Amino acid sequence: MKYDFDTVINRRNTDSLKWNVGAGELPMWVADMDFATAPEVTKAIIKRAEHGVFGYSEVPDEFYDSIIKRWKTAHGLAIKKEWICFCTGVVPAISSIVKRVTNHGDKVVLQTPVYDIFFHSVENAGRQVLENPLRYENGRYSIDFEDLESKLSDPLSTMMILCNPHNPTGNIHTREQLAEIGRLCNKHGVTLLSDEIHCDLTDDGYSYVPYLSAGSECLNSVTCISASKAFNIAGLQCAAAVIPDAALRNKAVRGLNSDEVAEPNCFAAIATAEAFNKGGEWLNELRAYLTRNKKTAARVIAEKLPMLKLTEQHATYLLWIDCAAVADDSDSLAAFIRKHTGLYLSSGAQYRGNGKTFLRMNAACPESVLLDGLDRLYNGIKSYVK
Ligand SMILES: Cc1ncc(COP(=O)(O)O)c(C=O)c1O
Repeated sequence: MKYDFDTVINRRNTDSLKWNVGAGELPMWVADMDFATAPEVTKAIIKRAEHGVFGYSEVPDEFYDSIIKRWKTAHGLAIKKEWICFCTGVVPAISSIVKRVTNHGDKVVLQTPVYDIFFHSVENAGRQVLENPLRYENGRYSIDFEDLESKLSDPLSTMMILCNPHNPTGNIHTREQLAEIGRLCNKHGVTLLSDEIHCDLTDDGYSYVPYLSAGSECLNSVTCISASKAFNIAGLQCAAAVIPDAALRNKAVRGLNSDEVAEPNCFAAIATAEAFNKGGEWLNELRAYLTRNKKTAARVIAEKLPMLKLTEQHATYLLWIDCAAVADDSDSLAAFIRKHTGLYLSSGAQYRGNGKTFLRMNAACPESVLLDGLDRLYNGIKSYVK
């Protein structure tokens, strides 16, 4: 390997949200990696910083060009420049677009368990969450299309937020599934927003399908993308909403502007362009490393904690662990493990759906740290069961 993912970088006392924990605690919760970003990205940031003048910035052409090139070469999707709207994060974009595209009291369909902040974006805006629970059978999740159509046909449903690939289940949606979602949304006049922030974090040998590439019925939609998850630059606050339809785009852009989430800081767009343009080799090595970490976790859990079940999945670095055999309340299980071992995991309950018997563990760390986390998980579960 050309790049180093084994060195443990001390992130304490760096104002890290993830690492703001007690001495001896090990945080494996929020989706933030413990690796330094691609050196090419750091170099570009240092070069910009050395200029020393940090006035207001515009979004440079390189930002748009890098997205167009990356999606064409890596994901087989032709994006037009005018479709791309800069925004300061995927969550700011979602919150803003929910407010612009739906009305107070409307319902927004979410496939649960799902990234918990979607609930906040919807409910803080006075809209209602309508759950389309994912089916869970034999350790795998799938979409219940019959239930989805019944939820989309509710007269109050005006929007659906898709997570592609899905956090926390790690599912990669197929082209056929995406096309069917597009057909149903069109049929029932529901605007689809596809959050594709995890798209570059597929396992070695796997790739994702952009919603926009799944057919003509998928074009009247919003896709949110960012380099932030794959390159670990979430703190730079940079994302894009890709919106082919001009009328929907105008509406969304009015929202992004009036919510003041459409202007970049002077490092954001540069870092994103550099990541997409020059970070390919680093990203491939990262994906191989993460795939190996996930296999290690699966092996250790199968050998030492056979009562837990790891959900079968091929995207994201998040392990979604079925703990139904040992606990029926993930909040108290997660709190117990943290108190007794210092391991800080996400409780599945916050993702709703059937999440309350699951824990989410972030495996994006050096292997030695992962092994420490798995050891603590083993000790925590053993003590809990006693
Ligand atoms: C599905 C999903 N969307 C959005 C975000 C956050 O996006 P941003 O930091 O760009 O607001 C996350 C972070 O974990 C996520 O998992």
